[in-house]
Amino acid sequence: MKINTDLLHAHQLHARLTGDYTPQAMAHISPIYQTSTYILEDFDTAVYLNQHVDQGFVYTRFGSPNCDELEKKIAYFEHAEAALALASGLGAISTAVMSVVKAGDHVVFGDVIYGCSYTLFAQVLTNLGVTYTRVDTTNPKSVEEAIKPNTSLVYVETPANPTLKISDIKAISEIVHSHKGITLIVDGTFASPYLQTPLDLGADMVVHSATKYLCGHGTVTAGVIAGNKARIDRCRMPYLQCFGAVLDPFAAWQLMQGMKTLGIRMERTCENAMKVAKFLESHPKIDRVYYPGLESHPTHEIAKKQMHGGFGGMMSADIKGGMDAVRIVMNNVKVFSLATSLGNVDSLIQHSPSMSHFDMTPEERHAAEIFDGQVRLSIGIEDVDDLIDDLDQALALI
Ligand SMILES: Cc1ncc(COP(=O)(O)O)c(C=O)c1O
Repeated sequence: MKINTDLLHAHQLHARLTGDYTPQAMAHISPIYQTSTYILEDFDTAVYLNQHVDQGFVYTRFGSPNCDELEKKIAYFEHAEAALALASGLGAISTAVMSVVKAGDHVVFGDVIYGCSYTLFAQVLTNLGVTYTRVDTTNPKSVEEAIKPNTSLVYVETPANPTLKISDIKAISEIVHSHKGITLIVDGTFASPYLQTPLDLGADMVVHSATKYLCGHGTVTAGVIAGNKARIDRCRMPYLQCFGAVLDPFAAWQLMQGMKTLGIRMERTCENAMKVAKFLESHPKIDRVYYPGLESHPTHEIAKKQMHGGFGGMMSADIKGGMDAVRIVMNNVKVFSLATSLGNVDSLIQHSPSMSHFDMTPEERHAAEIFDGQVRLSIGIEDVDDLIDDLDQALALI
């Protein structure tokens, strides 16, 4: 079936197909298994299941029916053998990364990535004896040149937060896999699996902040990892088990309700975003718009090749007049909410240099084109004229 049908029906256990007529199997919407532990049949089962946690439910940190259903859906949409649900996007990123790197290794990652992902590499892993090189991953040659004999991970965020740079996953994967023992992880949060499937392009693992488009309604923090079964098993045990970034069953359940409308949300979001981007690009108080759907975006051509069905709902814009002008706009928008996060049905506005990317030094931000006068917009599914009018009236106050 096609993707919008699959989003509603994938992996539902129909009683008529399975012969299972228990209320759990008959429920139109899966029940929530809000329990921390499971009663085990007898002593021998308890011993067996504790040692084979993928074969039954024992304890919610080891797995739950809600996370299991979510993981099967994510694996399906990412064209992966397996997937893992976690308590946040950073839970997914840190778990995936820790499953690959060890002390003495070297990591290559993009000069423009989400602020806390940068902090994970630049502070946390550095303290554990892992070195790194930041490169412009939109230029695959820079990735190649940065690889050292002890490189074990190349980490790419595409589209990148907040300047929406697009990296060519296929070209990078060919470089990475021409070397032995290097893993390519792609953070595809800004695109969601609806617009981009990195495993098809050669990535070894894809991670998402499911807090964003996958959920779509801003009601949970969650993360997912997808990849082959051996990699996902290793992420689950020992890394997820020991770090404990486990997704709560109710959060998994809410996420699955949100995922049902991913397709129509993304379609409307992409359509709205293109109109807002074009409006801003022609506005006299805007210096530059960063949206991969615009021909003026430096990586528009890669976006066209790599993303399917649209360019997403995220964009940034440099407002003339710097931080003072930003303050006026952010204090006067009425439809946009001043909030970090993204990918919700309603539109949000934030200031990347002081919010999502404040951990970077001013020099690093400048080199990454994250300027003081830059706002990041997450475009929702409202009537687009209201979004444009809202930005227009706020910009007029500068
Ligand atoms: C691209 C990207 N990856 C990961 C994250 C982290 O996700 P979470 O807040 O769910 O931990 C974010 C958060 O904004 C993000 O923008």
